[in-house]
Amino acid sequence: MCGIVGYIGEKNAVDIVLDGLKKLEYRGYDSSGVAVIKDGRLQIRRSIGKIKNLEESIDKNYLKANISIGHTRWATHGKPSKENAHPHTDSTKSIVIVHNGIIENYAELKSSLKEEGVEFKSETDTEVIAHLIKKHYKNNLFFAVQETLKEIIGSYALGVICKDEPNKIVCARQDASLIVGIGKGENFLASDIPALLSYTRDMIFLENGDIAEVTANRVRIADIENNIKDRKVKNIKWDCVQIKKEGFKHFMLKEIYEQPRTIEDTFRGRIYPDEGRAYIEEVKLSKEYIKNISNVYIVACGTSYHSGLVSKFFFENFAKMHTEVDIASEFRYREPILNDRILVIAISQSGETADTLAALSLAKSKGCITLAVCNIIGSSMSREADYVLYTRCGPEICVASTKAFTGQIAALYMLALDLARRKENFSKEDLKRYLKELWEVPAKIENFLKQSENVYKIAKKFAHKRGFLYLGRNINYPVALEGALKLKEISYIHAEGYAAGEMKHGPIALITDNMPVVVIAIKSRVYKKIISNVEEVKARGGTIILIASESDKTASDKGDNIIYIPDCDELISPILSVIPLQLLSYYVAVILGCDVDHPRNLAKSVTVE
Ligand code: F6R
Repeated sequence: MCGIVGYIGEKNAVDIVLDGLKKLEYRGYDSSGVAVIKDGRLQIRRSIGKIKNLEESIDKNYLKANISIGHTRWATHGKPSKENAHPHTDSTKSIVIVHNGIIENYAELKSSLKEEGVEFKSETDTEVIAHLIKKHYKNNLFFAVQETLKEIIGSYALGVICKDEPNKIVCARQDASLIVGIGKGENFLASDIPALLSYTRDMIFLENGDIAEVTANRVRIADIENNIKDRKVKNIKWDCVQIKKEGFKHFMLKEIYEQPRTIEDTFRGRIYPDEGRAYIEEVKLSKEYIKNISNVYIVACGTSYHSGLVSKFFFENFAKMHTEVDIASEFRYREPILNDRILVIAISQSGETADTLAALSLAKSKGCITLAVCNIIGSSMSREADYVLYTRCGPEICVASTKAFTGQIAALYMLALDLARRKENFSKEDLKRYLKELWEVPAKIENFLKQSENVYKIAKKFAHKRGFLYLGRNINYPVALEGALKLKEISYIHAEGYAAGEMKHGPIALITDNMPVVVIAIKSRVYKKIISNVEEVKARGGTIILIASESDKTASDKGDNIIYIPDCDELISPILSVIPLQLLSYYVAVILGCDVDHPRNLAKSVTVE
């Protein structure tokens, strides 16, 4: 889960590579590095921490060159250190590589290379690749990479340059995203779209097994056996402005405020409330197949897993389909009962999360119909799945996910309603009513965001507490999980999400006057139950932060810390009740002086197991 960038052309390559790496910092920022070929020699610079450290440590004029590759790292093998930072080189310093992924058989390869006398400089799995390419090198870098890849087991996005062939970058992909950007008299390489958007919108998404030779004027793609691969150039419509902060202090805040638009973009052209129709054109399941579905399995990780837990309610309530939700890293290592009557839905913002991708592939291999709900066009999951339903949230830059979560909920809500319509087990009136609920969400969020000051005041009051409990029931239980996850990942405060009814089975022991308890208690069929849980907390001296419905006249009896959200049907409520929790964690992190957009130890795309 690192980021790689490459450039070849007339411009100062290092400038472009550093700029691209900054846009990929969300993929990791333990260390970074660049390599150029200048006057027939390789020059490599590496540094610990964020890209700005690297930038400050190098003389860009001295490193002026027409070819460069760079890397931002999230450590997997070997601690974050200068020695382990990429690029890595062979012993003669003629070949240099950057790599994202994991080489599973690196230990065997390393020991046999050592027996041949090769000295290793780092603890990484990556370094073996540089030595192997050198071993196979006979004046043809492309061939040497092909031969090397025959020996390697694992995942990789790879960029390679060689001082004896200064007019090309060779790159390769297996289970880790890699894009070639097409320019005029210049070409680019990157792990992800944002790195290149300032330079080109024309991109080739390499596929598994592809090896590309990129010169300033040409891109040639072949596989390991030298079969030529014809890959289409795609034009990316995203706006560069979308990946800037637009006046917000942090990407996280910008992304929270973007939600009215991203939710609307996600449902635009897909729902027609007046006609009582949701129509997800991309998911071309036949009526017979839909009626025949025995089970839905949802697999995902982290925040996307929480949106899966919410969506279970949609598939069960609307489409009347038995639904199970599983953490992808668990699903892939048990023996799930899978067959062609099971629809498997993988949810992922990035579309690159290794565990979710593996769970998806497993389901496909067992004959299930698979659907990916992703935000990134052309991502690995979108290519692997039988169908793909895109959330249209634009690039999510902050490591902590916000707008992707609500986009996923909107997408799955519509999908379940569309399946309900096609199963003909839902009345038109009900369809109209539920679609209208979704239609009204953007305006409701917009209104709520006008009173964010209240959330800030509450954050200020509690930011210095050392632990938080989040309680919810039913469809808002996953929101409690999500609220706790947001708080812990960006403010480093311990927080637990719990099903409120479970509190008396253990967590109630934690409650003291020093433990804020955030309770989602909006109007719903379990309203009275959750109010009883609120009383249980209060009776033990706990302090409540209540998320309540605007029209709840009795909410103010529960204390001073109340955040009202607009009234809505309980099935759509998670998309609204999560917004104050996102804001609360954001403000707490800001008050504590945390690095909101780049929390420690995390990376945006988890492309390793
Ligand atoms: C939390 C967060 C992570 C991701 C998880 C899955 O804020 O961002 O928990 O949700 O790593 O990522 P995707 O959705 O890209 O598969």
